[in-house]
Amino acid sequence: MTTTLLSPLTLGDLTLPNRIVMAPLTRARATDGVPTERHATYYAQRATAGLIITEGTWVSERAIGFVGVPGLYSEAQVTGWRRVTDVVRAHGGRMIAQLWHSGAVSHPDLLGGTRPAGPSAIDPQEICHTPSGPRPTVTPREMTADDIRTAIDDYRTASANARRAGFAGVEIHALGTSLVPQFLNPRLNRRTDTYGTDRATLLLEIIAAAADPWDHGVGVRLAPWWSDGRFATDPAHHDDLVTELDRHPVAHLHLRGPGTPDPDVFTRHRRRFTGPLIVNHGFTRATADAALAAGTADAVSFGTPFIANPDLVSRLALDLPLAQGDPATYYTGGAAGYLDYPTAAAGIDWTSS
Ligand SMILES: Cc1cc2nc3c(=O)[nH]c(=O)nc-3n(C[C@H](O)[C@H](O)[C@H](O)COP(=O)(O)O)c2cc1C
Repeated sequence: MTTTLLSPLTLGDLTLPNRIVMAPLTRARATDGVPTERHATYYAQRATAGLIITEGTWVSERAIGFVGVPGLYSEAQVTGWRRVTDVVRAHGGRMIAQLWHSGAVSHPDLLGGTRPAGPSAIDPQEICHTPSGPRPTVTPREMTADDIRTAIDDYRTASANARRAGFAGVEIHALGTSLVPQFLNPRLNRRTDTYGTDRATLLLEIIAAAADPWDHGVGVRLAPWWSDGRFATDPAHHDDLVTELDRHPVAHLHLRGPGTPDPDVFTRHRRRFTGPLIVNHGFTRATADAALAAGTADAVSFGTPFIANPDLVSRLALDLPLAQGDPATYYTGGAAGYLDYPTAAAGIDWTSS
């Protein structure tokens, strides 16, 4: 039988009822880093997803680099997330937590006045979302060997906290401008120790630490086609890394693609990584089903479609039109543009059917 988005999937010890994954989406609605009842409501509305991957979530106070993002390092955060996972589970859903560290792409205003730390003292030249609005990044402090050990320990602790909070696993945020891509990046990582001579070392040590609390390893999310600024990368540069990941406890590989409708772009990675592969970026029902039928991927994640379509699974299954989200409320906080997107059924006139 042809595999489609509606086919079940075994992922480690999870059984997904469908292959529609909710991609991680930062929505900047946490209160002092703690997820609230609004988070529980938002994720519960989307619990029909085969798997929910949370918004990026800080591994420690040192990891912060954006306003309104929750963490997984304090007891209040574990309790807040426990409430979210309980409510999602009661709706029949499954969740894993995405673990995020901003490294140099942060700002003193988010770090109690201290300078952000990164692989080398080179300004990543990004814009950072601070409490007082967008601010340019500064020249970071070069991380010492102790700083690196602390960061790795932070991943281990946050991963154990995720388990205590009722998550079924974790995924390492290793894409875009976060700490791991800073270390992978030859323009930003000029270190002469092993973290510079083999730039994948940090990621591999983070994977080992974060996998500690789990039997099945951890997910890793990469963006081999990232095209912005100093972080622009060539997909070929990720080939050896993906081959290497196959030798480590990686529960799934989650790739953000170039956003083109051609799923064949992922074939190079599919050949190198033998575990479950989730692909993302710009997929529709038709292109996702084509990728699954061709065996290019095991599941497809959807980001923006899940913002405005809490019932995305029903809409894709029933071929109903998708609503468009309002980018102006992506990161604004509050319930507007977060909890108030209706289901398709709410807009259908059932009297005529
Ligand atoms: C508002 C918003 C927030 C996002 N936050 C995250 C995040 O926290 N972690 C992450 O890995 N990707 C994040 N992404 C990227 C999405 O997961 C996804 O890769 C992107 O939306 C492309 O998929 P799509 O075409 O299905 O929307 C974010 C995207 C958007 C639009």
